[in-house]
Amino acid sequence: MSFPKDFLWGGATAANQYEGGYREGGRGLATSDVYTGGALNVARQITYVLPDGTTGKMDQHDEMPANAKGYIDENLYYPSHVATDFYHHYKEDIALFAEMGFNCFRLSLSWSRIFPNGNDSEPNEAGLQFYEDVFDELLKYNIQPVVSINHFDVPMHLADEYDAWSDRRMIDWYTNYTNVLFTRFKDKVKYWMTFNEINLLNGYPLLGTHKTDDQTRYQAMHHMFLASAQAVINGKKINPDFQIGMMCAYILTYPETCNPEDVQKNIDEERNLKYFFSDVQVRGYYPSYKLKEFERNGVVIKKEQGDDEILRQGVVDYIGFSYYNSGVTSVNNRELTDGNVSKVVPNKYLSQSEWGWPIDPKGMRISLNLLWDRYQIPLFVVENGLGAVDSVEADGSINDDYRIEYLADHIQEMKNAIELDGVDLFGYTPWGCIDLVSAGTGEMKKRYGFIYVDLDDKGQGSLKRSKKKSFYWYKKVIATNGDDL
Ligand code: BG6
Repeated sequence: MSFPKDFLWGGATAANQYEGGYREGGRGLATSDVYTGGALNVARQITYVLPDGTTGKMDQHDEMPANAKGYIDENLYYPSHVATDFYHHYKEDIALFAEMGFNCFRLSLSWSRIFPNGNDSEPNEAGLQFYEDVFDELLKYNIQPVVSINHFDVPMHLADEYDAWSDRRMIDWYTNYTNVLFTRFKDKVKYWMTFNEINLLNGYPLLGTHKTDDQTRYQAMHHMFLASAQAVINGKKINPDFQIGMMCAYILTYPETCNPEDVQKNIDEERNLKYFFSDVQVRGYYPSYKLKEFERNGVVIKKEQGDDEILRQGVVDYIGFSYYNSGVTSVNNRELTDGNVSKVVPNKYLSQSEWGWPIDPKGMRISLNLLWDRYQIPLFVVENGLGAVDSVEADGSINDDYRIEYLADHIQEMKNAIELDGVDLFGYTPWGCIDLVSAGTGEMKKRYGFIYVDLDDKGQGSLKRSKKKSFYWYKKVIATNGDDL
């Protein structure tokens, strides 16, 4: 057996990188709207204004000044505003996905399109209608929507007024948001994920929490865990057939040597980077290693009565994860290279992408096995891909053989995990199936798509869509259920 016959084949996107229409249909501002474009080694910045009117910019790694509010500087470029304009192109784009043979499509919803301030008493009907139209268009082609409820931002108002996830009331506002989604779309969406890459949100600046010390980050994370668990509990009551998953950035790391010091360090890093988050969301309680770390570091999570029970009850149905690259753990200081969101020690056995991300197809099989062995619940690869510069030839063709090679090698390893190891993997949605803005750098020239979008790093271009060579290749992969790579 290779891929199961009902395997989900599709592609993945996120509202803040793809949707655009940032001020249309009653949408409110989101934290991602005040995030400027950047480049490799040029950090993206968040623009803010202080109560005395002075303005500033912080980069990804700074702490936002207290009382700062996000604002838009008309002289700067913010790629989320138009992005690659799914808002106005959704019918055309979905027709192209259907032509490739997708039977699922992963998108995220913009919270501030549905609740412009995040905590309004009533949802914005135009926002709900937009997503309903999108779902209907997908279902017309028998494409299942796979929905990330929240991907890398929050409504600006919640960041400005409440310091977002550090405030426990966020749980109620998120719960209200998810109840509205689950009720409205209960017959149109089956697969949900509560937070994109929750393990990267621990201090992520666009989550709108100003302070980044351990106490604040972990308290905010506790609120996110509860919000996610509550969503699972409520969602199952609204439709018991819902499949509600977590979403984790699977940052695979190998010990550099068999020196037990390297091995121990690798265990610590793996827990810190990813397993803490999946342990809580899959098992339903905080793991002992984290509780001990909290004790050592004086972190005290403020819990209310009933929190533990909510975590226990709200465990997820499946693990969605992204896999792009692996890294190495070493007790020695090593020069770092880039990787998905965090920098990693490079691996001498692996080549790297143009953005310095190590390319490791075998790591896909290893990741699937590690997750399956640890949790024994279904897995869904919801992101994978190669960010690369594409050139458009004089005849309009785009010959992205490098992308085909990367994806074919990774799909082969997924196949091995199913065939040789018996891993329960039920779907694959490669990242940025249509070109969109890079989350890390804010660039357009770092492209992942099967479909090219004419837009540059300054936001110039016609937004015209065209098919790359990989479009035809992926169509064949889907048509043969992964047999012909
Ligand atoms: C994942 C994110 O971390 O990686 C996506 O969920 C992101 O939002 C993707 O776009 C690829 O990263 P980048 O920086 O190349 O866009």
